[in-house]
Amino acid sequence: MRRSLRSYSDQKSDPAPVHVPVLLKQVIKYLLTDPGGLYVDATADGGGHSQAVLLELKQKGKLICCDRDVDALEYCKNRLKGFKEKVDFAKVNFKNLGSHLESQKINDVSGFLFDLGMSTLQLEDPERGFSYLKDGSLDMRMDLSQKKKAYDVVNFYPLEKLAEIFREYGELKRAKLLARIIVESRNKAKINTTRDLKEVLQPKLDPRNKSKALSKCFQAIRIEVNDELDELKEGINQAMEFLRPGGRLCVISYHSLEDRLVKSTFNFYSKGCICPPDFPQCVCGGKKVLKVLTKKPLVPDKEEKKENPRSRSAKLRVCEKLNFSK
Ligand SMILES: C[S@@+](CC[C@H](N)C(=O)[O-])C[C@H]1O[C@@H](n2cnc3c(N)ncnc32)[C@H](O)[C@@H]1O
Repeated sequence: MRRSLRSYSDQKSDPAPVHVPVLLKQVIKYLLTDPGGLYVDATADGGGHSQAVLLELKQKGKLICCDRDVDALEYCKNRLKGFKEKVDFAKVNFKNLGSHLESQKINDVSGFLFDLGMSTLQLEDPERGFSYLKDGSLDMRMDLSQKKKAYDVVNFYPLEKLAEIFREYGELKRAKLLARIIVESRNKAKINTTRDLKEVLQPKLDPRNKSKALSKCFQAIRIEVNDELDELKEGINQAMEFLRPGGRLCVISYHSLEDRLVKSTFNFYSKGCICPPDFPQCVCGGKKVLKVLTKKPLVPDKEEKKENPRSRSAKLRVCEKLNFSK
């Protein structure tokens, strides 16, 4: 039977695995410009960053904790219940942040945090199917009300589409071969579990780099199941709309596809005019919407990487909204 994270957190004898918030000090330093402001944690999960933000807020300061994962949000609610009216919770996919904020009549946010990817809570739960190290159902949905699961991608996507996913989202060299081996295997019997999938892929992976290649295969399928890259772009766009001038957007990414997307979206908004350089004057009317505060992304130091190996690939980029009316 599926065991929710809430039930984990209720049982002292069998505690939930702890998600350690990544780059916490840096997030607090950059995100909080006004202790009385309104903040949105778009990926609240277990509430690690949220708790630290709440501890810094004064008087009217408020935090809205959002996540697309109901289990994670329940866990977060339980953890942060002591903060009472300083905190609100919403099951929201960050691609729909705008409509949620509008429904709450909010248009002046002092800061948004996006801490992307999966949490330890999700990764360690075999039933969620995110990890090739645990045997569980081929699920990988962050939002459990969503229909499409990893099972559907693996067992029903056409070969070409599977190859494209491995190439684009996993940056795997043997993408076509991996897709073919999946199709051959599923023609004999459906691939039901994470262990089945691992056993199908393993013989075709570079033996010197098996774990990395396996995690890339799982990453690729997870990105497809959760439509992660399109949603990230939309989420950033929506956050930019609702930030007040001087407000900040902090994004922590964990792989190069996410980081490239964050960097290019920030660059787009910080550019302003996009007329060719030989035009005597601007005709596009483009305005600079933000200033990038991190020319190079911030990364965890040696100590953090040692204490929390999951932080190894983290990159934090921060931008600030300029005085530009909506
Ligand atoms: C790395 S965890 C965040 C951990 C959190 N900052 C903490 O310190 O406890 C990422 C969370 O983002 C959520 N998430 C990923 N994509 C999302 C999306 N499009 N909309 C809302 N939440 C999303 C996941 O469900 C997961 O709970």
